[in-house]
Amino acid sequence: MGYVLGLDLGTSSLKGILVNNEGKIIKIATESYSLIQSQSGYSEQNPDLWITAADNVMHELLNTVKDFKENLEAISFSGQMHSLVLLDDKNRVLRNAILWNDMRTSEQSKKIMQNFDQLLSITKNRSLEGFTLPKILWVQEKEPEIWNRVKHILLPKDYLSFYMTGHYYTDYSDAAGTLLLDLNTDKWSSVLLDKYNIPEDYLPKLVNSTDFIGYLKDELLARYKFSNKIKVFAGAADNASAALGAGIIDKNTAMASIGTSGVFLAPEESSNRNYKGKLHFFHHAIAETYYSMGVTLAAGYSLEWFKKTFAPDLSFNNLLEEINTIPTGSDGLLFTPYIVGERTPHNDSLIRGSFIGIDSTHTLAHFAKSVIEGITFSLKDSQMIMEKTTHRNFKRIISIGGGAKSEEWLQIQANIFDTEVISLVSEHGPGLGATMIAAMGLKWFDSVERCAESFVNYGKSFFPQKEEVEKYIELYNVYKTIYDNTKNINYSLQNLK
Ligand code: XUL
Repeated sequence: MGYVLGLDLGTSSLKGILVNNEGKIIKIATESYSLIQSQSGYSEQNPDLWITAADNVMHELLNTVKDFKENLEAISFSGQMHSLVLLDDKNRVLRNAILWNDMRTSEQSKKIMQNFDQLLSITKNRSLEGFTLPKILWVQEKEPEIWNRVKHILLPKDYLSFYMTGHYYTDYSDAAGTLLLDLNTDKWSSVLLDKYNIPEDYLPKLVNSTDFIGYLKDELLARYKFSNKIKVFAGAADNASAALGAGIIDKNTAMASIGTSGVFLAPEESSNRNYKGKLHFFHHAIAETYYSMGVTLAAGYSLEWFKKTFAPDLSFNNLLEEINTIPTGSDGLLFTPYIVGERTPHNDSLIRGSFIGIDSTHTLAHFAKSVIEGITFSLKDSQMIMEKTTHRNFKRIISIGGGAKSEEWLQIQANIFDTEVISLVSEHGPGLGATMIAAMGLKWFDSVERCAESFVNYGKSFFPQKEEVEKYIELYNVYKTIYDNTKNINYSLQNLK
């Protein structure tokens, strides 16, 4: 019996998933850490905490799985994207990592966008505050004494793999989120590196997610008392890895993930795609494939905000139980989930949410249903951009996250997306994708499809219901007009705060 370990380096915790060669989960160990938010918009983390967390996860596995030491064959990773880790010539961390959800870099991001056409043709993406390049420019400008000492630039999971192997690598899915990768050549972009004064040798070597990057260092082999050498594979960005772990590997299957934020993601076969920056476009965890992705900033967060503000004494289940009694379209009530601004498709940090059509007959359940419908419409915006640009209709959508926990919501998704929606039997997020990467690196399977058959278990299917679909098409057409009609009102209100 062989084991593989997937380490998912998230924003709030590091999760280790141990899986055997039949895809069965043996043990999950999690270690939390906190964010440092020293001022509004700032979000940092001390990379040493990730190392301590990984060490604690390894010890928990050693203490609880008796044949872990003998049977572990390989480790791989998934990780929060974009976050900037800077090391000096002795591999010392120079400052806290600046995370993907840190918003201090508006000015730098705007500056990068002055050459949008060039950026888009090289990286296939627009710039956003969260991405790595604006963070590098911020350090160059605001902390030159730190920048002058930089010798290595890494992403979080690559810092962990460096700690475990002593080698500097990143994979294409994470590299794409830096805004420094040329997606036409799969090399670091010399044009962008020159333009922004970043020496190429600061950056890690580029490999595929399933590429072998070294053995676990001797020092760690001894510390954990492993009997055999342990292979380490590069791993992937968390979104690519989550998609892999949900079996999103063919271009006709999309993923709708409704967590705090929402993601609509689908594989793409070629890098020759031009979404004009409306969607993110990154490498997938599978060699030579890509994915496009749209993001709703406040998906589950909108529902959480609504419950906390208007129904603090109800459980989510009680709140959602009632929505089946409310007709499709919530009797004329529409919600836009722009409560913290919106990414896809508007990229507008100033827009805010609305309830439109409030009527004296509306009840709490109407409002709850319209929140759920509004969140799903917002993800449909991304689905529509993908389907229209690429002339395809998704055959099925795998739904994960909080939105997949309610059968009522899954049915609403099937009706709004007008596509079969399938849930997973058990969800393990990006960490499961990392175990699949390690399993494929070891060549346990001859294809990614065979690996997914063993590792991913699909649950119930929800099918579009004709009448509801038709109603939702009309409602979606109205929903789409809310942004333009409320934009100026919202901007004025923001000025009056
Ligand atoms: C993707 C993004 C987030 C992080 C979360 O562009 O910013 O999904 O990857 O870890």
